[in-house]
Amino acid sequence: MPKFEELSGLKNIEPILIPEGDDFKNLQTAEFIWESLFKKKADRYALLINLGGGMINDLGGFCAGTYFRGIDFVHVPTTVLAQVDASIGGKVAIDYKKYKNLIGLFKNPAYVFIETQFLQTLPENQYRSGFVELLKHAIIASPHLLSEIEKKGVPKWDKIYPFLEKSLMIKRQIIEADPYDHNKRQVLNFGHSVGHAVESLCSELNQKILHGEAVAFGMMVESMLSYQTNDFPKEDLDRLMSLLHDFSYKKIKLKHVDGILDGIKRDKKNFGKELKFTLIRDIGNAHYGYSRGPDAVRNALELVIDNYF
Ligand SMILES: NC(=O)c1ccc[n+]([C@@H]2O[C@H](COP(=O)([O-])OP(=O)(O)OC[C@H]3O[C@@H](n4cnc5c(N)ncnc54)[C@H](O)[C@@H]3O)[C@@H](O)[C@H]2O)c1
Repeated sequence: MPKFEELSGLKNIEPILIPEGDDFKNLQTAEFIWESLFKKKADRYALLINLGGGMINDLGGFCAGTYFRGIDFVHVPTTVLAQVDASIGGKVAIDYKKYKNLIGLFKNPAYVFIETQFLQTLPENQYRSGFVELLKHAIIASPHLLSEIEKKGVPKWDKIYPFLEKSLMIKRQIIEADPYDHNKRQVLNFGHSVGHAVESLCSELNQKILHGEAVAFGMMVESMLSYQTNDFPKEDLDRLMSLLHDFSYKKIKLKHVDGILDGIKRDKKNFGKELKFTLIRDIGNAHYGYSRGPDAVRNALELVIDNYF
């Protein structure tokens, strides 16, 4: 990524620099940003430019959305994850204590500028992890996009734009139908019920895991659950398993099944005995709100771990 000072066209702006990583997506950093805006005499007509990955988009959007009851902001996402997912949809938030995105709001940026050149410097593991959300969009809504990815593989930064564009259109269509996440938007959670549980287990075990690696594993399990309980065809299951395994976190063992199940049960969407999932019927055809009992979920988890890891 070019150094901040080297970005032409941004000569008259006042930088506010933030340390990297989700550990800083918190109230202390938000306060530092509000304080910086205040000291720089930003009034309610100021514009905040959020240049960075999803962490910066979330944090900057949250601060802009609350400063002076909301000033305009634009996102300039610099990671695949932010370009394909975090920069659109209007969700901006910070973490609170150990809870992810607990404090936030729905507020759309005035613009999102997607410049794929930023991706040249993104580490390979971050690039592939972000690409998992693009894969998810293809799996839940576009058999054509999925076949294209299977045929051409993961595109390099200079070939990714057409893929990003198709994927963004999918997310856009879904969020426009349900901007405040009451119903249809939940199809975007495919792979995330299990994925979030794996992320929190890894954090308890002090194991490093990227979001996309957890979601790829989550999509394997939720595809298996779809096969077992929702008539998802076997040949499509095999296709997804071989594709997703490449992106998945690999250090998952059968002894982790109880921990993952506990994490799914703690998910805020789950009340009582039944657990809630987005499942697929065919590739490109996902539906939200399926309830499944813990035994069915355990079975899918065990089958995936036993057969693929
Ligand atoms: N609001 C939403 O809808 C939404 C959706 C998905 C994820 N998120 C949030 O997004 C965050 C994760 O986003 P992320 O994966 O982009 O992580 P990130 O913003 O932490 O960036 C990952 C790493 O890449 C570095 N980086 C960023 N751009 C780079 C570049 N061009 N070259 C080299 N390094 C670069 C960052 O400094 C960081 O170390 C999480 O906080 C998550 O909660 C939000």
